[in-house]
Amino acid sequence: MSKHQPEIVRLPDVAAVQRAAAERVVALANAQVAATGRFLIALSGGNTPRGLHTLLAQEPLRSQIPWGQVWVVWGDERYVPADHPDSSYLMARETLLEHVPIPSEQIYPVPTYYADPVESAAIYEQQIQALLAANGNQIDLVLLGMGPDGHTASLFPHHPALAAPAERLVVAIDNSPKPPPRRITLTVAALNRAAHTLVLVTGADKAETLREVLEGPADPQRLPIQLIQPPHGSVTWLVDAAAATYLSAG
Ligand code: 6PG
Repeated sequence: MSKHQPEIVRLPDVAAVQRAAAERVVALANAQVAATGRFLIALSGGNTPRGLHTLLAQEPLRSQIPWGQVWVVWGDERYVPADHPDSSYLMARETLLEHVPIPSEQIYPVPTYYADPVESAAIYEQQIQALLAANGNQIDLVLLGMGPDGHTASLFPHHPALAAPAERLVVAIDNSPKPPPRRITLTVAALNRAAHTLVLVTGADKAETLREVLEGPADPQRLPIQLIQPPHGSVTWLVDAAAATYLSAG
């Protein structure tokens, strides 16, 4: 279990969720750089992070982050070329990375140019291992979304990737129910190396699943995001009113 119970923050709408997330990224980045001199963040794919990235890429927040001390990896990636419209790297580059002064050598996209995604996963795993070793064996901040089926990153219900051995940090999948089918994902073990995790959930289509995840019985094979329990980290859910529809008043 995590050392903390998750913090659940209810916000009125998507824009408020993205603002709250951006403000937390700024605070965590500055605190971590002050403490260790670097901030290792794992970005998420999907649509929700777009607005967050845009806020970080523009003033007033842009100049509040010590970009020269930021290192970027991805929690998962679609196995498409880096210039493909489905690429999470392309989305992050266009909405954030090309607008901020982060050294390019500190940006670690998943290599999606190998014929065999398994080879890509092995290489990315080596990169993640090296970055963890240089960062106190932790990812300082993991950004996650949640699908209506309870998946997070590219960890989908009842998928063998959920049972990856503890020593595996990155795996390839070829049957994602959310297109595109081929993906690379950090494993549960890797994601649980987070010091802080922000889970952004918005929209009525996720309301029932969010209730089950947060207030229902443990059923992690069916709801993989329940496996996100960093033993040495905190988890904060930033949810909008639509997604929080069925959560209890507490
Ligand atoms: C992806 C993400 C995925 C995403 C959720 C939520 O590659 O699509 O890693 O896990 O975070 O599906 O997506 P939305 O933010 O678009 O709802």
